[in-house]
Amino acid sequence: MNHFTYKNKELYCEDMPLAQLAAEVGTPFYLYSNATLTRHFQAFDAPFQNLPHLSCFAVKSCSNLAILRLFANLGGGADIVSGGELFRALRAGVPAARIVYSGVGKTREEMAQGLKADILQFNVESEQELDALQEVAVGLGVTARVSFRVNPDVDPKTHAYISTGLAKNKFGIPIEQAGAVYARARQLPNIRIQGVSCHIGSQLTQVSPFIESLRKLKDFIGRLQAEGIVISHLDLGGGLGIQYREEEPPHPAEYARAIQAELAGLDCTLILEPGRVIVGNAGILVTRVHYTKQGPTKKFVIVDAGMNDLARPSLYGAYHAIRPVRDTGLGLEVADVVGPICETGDFLSRDHEVPVSRPGDLLAVMSAGAYGFTMSSNYNSRPRVAEVLVAGDSYHVIRRRETQDDLIRGEEIPAFLQEKA
Ligand code: LLP
Repeated sequence: MNHFTYKNKELYCEDMPLAQLAAEVGTPFYLYSNATLTRHFQAFDAPFQNLPHLSCFAVKSCSNLAILRLFANLGGGADIVSGGELFRALRAGVPAARIVYSGVGKTREEMAQGLKADILQFNVESEQELDALQEVAVGLGVTARVSFRVNPDVDPKTHAYISTGLAKNKFGIPIEQAGAVYARARQLPNIRIQGVSCHIGSQLTQVSPFIESLRKLKDFIGRLQAEGIVISHLDLGGGLGIQYREEEPPHPAEYARAIQAELAGLDCTLILEPGRVIVGNAGILVTRVHYTKQGPTKKFVIVDAGMNDLARPSLYGAYHAIRPVRDTGLGLEVADVVGPICETGDFLSRDHEVPVSRPGDLLAVMSAGAYGFTMSSNYNSRPRVAEVLVAGDSYHVIRRRETQDDLIRGEEIPAFLQEKA
């Protein structure tokens, strides 16, 4: 359920017509619905209300300060993977006590940043990382609260690039080696063992892989406890999928029910790291048609957004539905919706039915709220687009469109090159 709906053949975000927004903000732009974000956060979080738990929004999926603040206001925390994301989360007002730090390659500087902020926990992914964290914590005279991310070797049945819990993936500590790492951690004076974590992948459309890994984790926690290691936090990561097209992912309530049934008897605070399930269908990318052209075998609709603005179709072959902002009644046709980037891989939709469009028409690229703006780049020296948040009948530019000056900020021509031009 989202708040992008047609009224009189015009696409609205809540009570705001998209055509009006495009006229005032320019295109392309990312557009998020406050009501949808709120609803999705609550739909995910509420089913866990009977358990001690914390929903730490995965900042990488959508990292705008306004959106992080919105979830913090709803009681959410943040799952971060870099010093930059920590900076954002703190700036947005997420309390440090609700921040968990994931990722395989944390630098010592990033560890220090997290320790100084006194975040809830570091999800440590290797023994060497543990040693580094111990060293940094000693230097600062503090104790690091730690959870180890274990790799349970479970197939999440999703795209290979976003599968993370298989033995062949770079993530976590193989579950069979993890016991020894906990035993070592126990000896380290500036490390306080707090939890067990895992994250097996993204865009999961079945509950069973989550349950399979939870069972392995439970068994592992039992073994740790038998050794006298107390686990107070269990972090199950993120990964619940959304509907882009015909997928039928479990409803968050069903996911929560299955997890809670499996958790019975475990005395832990549950941490969850949802990203896509909350923001994916709460955001879209609005783009304008520049031109259309009919090639010998294909029709192309050339729009003003490209793979630099939304990388998912090019990178994962991901499907994003394309809808007309004004339903002209011209129907659908099979065409490629492509951007202005100089690469054949630059497409937003390929070989699918899309609205018959004419130059100047506006199109909505749906389900773009997660890993949309955050994966965008300046490739082809294209300024990154604006982000807009609609609440009811008002809108707020939550990130201004970049300018050409933004493109060259920080660049310099060294003196030895400056003589000739
Ligand atoms: N926690 C950890 C440790 C993660 O690595 C991720 C995502 C999440 C939580 C959030 O997962 P979610 O609930 O959003 O599935 N760029 C890709 C997705 C990459 C996911 C990376 N990790 C895409 O556009 O599909």
